[in-house]
Amino acid sequence: MAVDISTPTPRATAEPARKTLAKKPALKPRRGARSSLALKILMAVTGLLLVGFLYAHMIGNLKIFFGAESFDHYAHWLRTIAEPLLPSGWFLWIMRFGLVVAVVGHIVAATILTRRARKARPVKYVHRPKVQGSYAARTMRWGGVIIVLFVVYHLLDLTTGTLNPAPAGSEPSARVIADFKAEQWYVTLFYVLSIVAVGLHLRHGLFSAVRTLGQRTARGERIARGAALLLSVVLVVGYLSVPFAVLTGLVD
Ligand code: HEM
Repeated sequence: MAVDISTPTPRATAEPARKTLAKKPALKPRRGARSSLALKILMAVTGLLLVGFLYAHMIGNLKIFFGAESFDHYAHWLRTIAEPLLPSGWFLWIMRFGLVVAVVGHIVAATILTRRARKARPVKYVHRPKVQGSYAARTMRWGGVIIVLFVVYHLLDLTTGTLNPAPAGSEPSARVIADFKAEQWYVTLFYVLSIVAVGLHLRHGLFSAVRTLGQRTARGERIARGAALLLSVVLVVGYLSVPFAVLTGLVD
């Protein structure tokens, strides 16, 4: 969450200097560098799993444009996936468990990598673009915090209905529509800010993940940047279309 995973690890950064001094190429990466690489791979893989969920969820939300019934049918279907192989609702719980593991793995890896980078960098970013590097890291950190707070609110709002203005036991479509009514503008605003935070986080995270997974050429970097931007914009527009459709009366 908080770290630019495309950043070389502190030990890896220090490696060339050591090599020059010793005039002897190191044959094996040091243990710290290896474990930092493993953490970056963990961040990239868990991040990609979360992107898969985000896209599937966004596409599911678009069902609201086919009518309340279609949306509620979809919400019900989520609870019947893999039946009769699995009992009702089990697939959803397995998916929830996988999501929690992915989120925790992503945050733990980010926290350890950020701490390591800070410890090994008493003088900040001597060789790196100062403003860009720290800006990206800050955005990722605070973006990540906003997203976690949003998800907690979102679950209490639309999954349990605890904070939702619709009466208890309402259908999912009624809860979504109740959320984004004009008089509840602050809820819509919070959703908009959070979704934009998701988009920014995703853009930088996707680009970093591609680097971590081995992409190094200038052309590849340009393509990765463009693809990350496109995927993030599509996701943000897809999610935002729902509150704006309710606000403008397109969906009611
Ligand atoms: C306007 C945008 C969004 C809408 C309208 C929306 C709608 C919903 C609804 C209706 C549910 C309840 C589904 C059910 O229980 O049947 C839900 C669950 C959920 N949403 Fe969203 N969502 C939006 C954005 C997001 C975003 C941006 C994230 C992640 C950052 C997210 C993460 C989740 C999660 C984790 C669940 C719980 C899934 C489960 O365990 O059942 N949602 N959402």
